[in-house]
Amino acid sequence: MSSIYESDKILAEYLLFHFGAAAEILPSDRIWPAGMDEALDFPVRTVAHFSKETVKRGLDLGCAVGRSAFEMARTCAEVVGIDFSHAFIRAAESLRRGEVLGYDRREEATVQTRLEAKLPDGLDLTGLRFCQGDAMHLPSDLGAFDRVHAANLLCRLPQPGLLLDRLPELVNPGGELVLATPCTWLEEFTPPEQWPVNGTLDWLESALSPAFDLIRQTEEPFLIRETARKFQWTSSMVTVWRRHARL
Ligand SMILES: C[S@@+](CC[C@H](N)C(=O)[O-])C[C@H]1O[C@@H](n2cnc3c(N)ncnc32)[C@H](O)[C@@H]1O
Repeated sequence: MSSIYESDKILAEYLLFHFGAAAEILPSDRIWPAGMDEALDFPVRTVAHFSKETVKRGLDLGCAVGRSAFEMARTCAEVVGIDFSHAFIRAAESLRRGEVLGYDRREEATVQTRLEAKLPDGLDLTGLRFCQGDAMHLPSDLGAFDRVHAANLLCRLPQPGLLLDRLPELVNPGGELVLATPCTWLEEFTPPEQWPVNGTLDWLESALSPAFDLIRQTEEPFLIRETARKFQWTSSMVTVWRRHARL
């Protein structure tokens, strides 16, 4: 599996992506093209696709440095965040403990700006935990959840079908599933024979419709700042599913 998510460079980019203020990602000394600011706060916007009432258990798969898991903790009494990257889970866990994490925002070449990531306000974190793990081989005793979130994970897995197969038992009857994917299938992460043949939406519907209803399909843009002048602007396809009350 790819180790790119263990590097200091990607860790700093994700701390900025998940916890950076708007003015840290798009500094006000420059005029930015229309729409860039609408791509901010992606890890918050994907969680906003869940319904608003309080539930017992939430799961964030491929949680990276944790922002969506922190947001899920606002309405889930217990949240488990799982990611394959040890570096990401260490950072998420430090933030959960209330530590402030320093990191370098890269401007160009060796020019950097020191920034700090810290927890968003107003969180009760007593029921939140982060674990390093593999979304394709989750522990058999993980149990079932009222909400499962997996953002920009599927097309980073070597065998994404293994996760899709596990989802019916991971989501409680009546529970919600939010999947976001930019559908950027790359050989670097997923062998071509595992890519969806007729498009990602068709593949998701075939795999999930026996156990889930598709409630909504939409797009959410996101922005990852690499340097002062280089950004990844991407649109992620978001699908919201409800688990059948019974099979
Ligand atoms: C593109 S990032 C998305 C992170 C986050 N959900 C977001 O939307 O910002 C993909 C994440 O999936 C994680 N990942 C890759 N393979 C994984 C696996 N087999 N199990 C769990 N997480 C994995 C990576 O470490 C990384 O944090």
